[in-house]
Amino acid sequence: MKDRADAPARDRYAVAGHPVEHSRSPSIHARFAALTGEPVDYGRLPCPLDGFAATVRAFAASTGAGLGPARGCNVTVPFKFEAVTLAAGLTPRAALAQAANTLRFDAEGWQADNTDGAGLVRDITVHAGVALQGARLLLVGAGGAASGVLGPLLEAGPQRLVLANRSPDKARTLVDRHAALAAQHGVALHAAPLDACGDGFDIVVNATAASLAGAAVPVSGRVLHPGALALDMMYGPAAQGFLHWAAAHGAHGRDGLGMLVEQAAESFRFWRGMRPPTDAVLAELRAAVAGEST
Ligand code: ATR
Repeated sequence: MKDRADAPARDRYAVAGHPVEHSRSPSIHARFAALTGEPVDYGRLPCPLDGFAATVRAFAASTGAGLGPARGCNVTVPFKFEAVTLAAGLTPRAALAQAANTLRFDAEGWQADNTDGAGLVRDITVHAGVALQGARLLLVGAGGAASGVLGPLLEAGPQRLVLANRSPDKARTLVDRHAALAAQHGVALHAAPLDACGDGFDIVVNATAASLAGAAVPVSGRVLHPGALALDMMYGPAAQGFLHWAAAHGAHGRDGLGMLVEQAAESFRFWRGMRPPTDAVLAELRAAVAGEST
C-alpha cells in the first residue's frame, strides 16, 4: 500500500448547480473513490443563475492546493440544458436529450454525457428487479429530467411508452425528437395530456417537479396496474406524497435514490473508465436518508 507521500495527487471533480448545498453527490463519489482506489476529490460548485459557464470554466482552469487538476463536473438543475452548449462533443444520449449531467474536461475539447437515463434503467432492472422489455410504461413530465431518460428507456424495449405532461406541446416535441429511436426499437411512443394518458401501466415514472412544489401527484391512480412499479425521481421528504399515492393504489413505490447512485456510477465510469460497485453505496445512502427523515 502506498503511503500518502507516494499517493498521486487527486483529480478534482464537483457538482455544479443552483443550489448544490444539499447534494448527495460528494458523499457518493467519495465512497466510489474509496471502493475503487481511484485518486478522486469531489466537491460542490455553487453557480449563480446567470454565471454557470463562467463558474465551470474557472473551476476547470483552477489549481487546487495539494490536489491535481480539475477533470470534470456533474451538472444539476437548472443548468443541464446549458451544459451541452459548453461541450465540444456530446455522447449520442446527451445529443438526443439535448441536456447533460456530466462534463469531462478533455484537453482537446470538453465532452458531455447524460447518465440519468442509464441510471434509471439500471435502478429499475437491477435494484427493483423489474423488466422494462415488453412493459407498458408511463413517463410523466417533459422537462429536463424526462428528456434525459426518454432515450435510454426506449432502448430498453418497452412495448409502449406514453409521455404525459401538463403542457402537451412539450410532450409532443420530445416524442417527435425520439420517434426514430422508438421505431428502431419497436416501441409504440405517444404524447398525452395528464388527464387522458391511459390506464393500467406496468411502470409509472414521475419526472415532474410537482412534488417539489407541494402539489399532488398529477395523474389518476388508474394509471397503475395492480402490482405496478411507481417510481419518483425525488427522494427523502419530497418523494413521500408519491410513495403514499403508490401504496394506496396497490403499486410498489420507489424513490429516486437508486437512480441517483447509478447515474453517479455512470458518470464515474465516463471520467475514470471503470464502473464502481453500487450496492453498498445505495444501502448506506438509503439508511442515511431514512435517519434524517425520522
Ligand atoms: P426538470 O429539469 O426537473 O425536469 P423542468 O424542466 O422545469 O424541471 O420541468 C418540470 C416538469 O414538471 C415539467 O414537465 C412540468 O410541466 P410543464 O412542462 O407543463 O411545466 C412539470 N410540473 C411542474 N409542476 C407541476 C405540477 N404542479 N403539476 C404537473 N406537472 C408539473
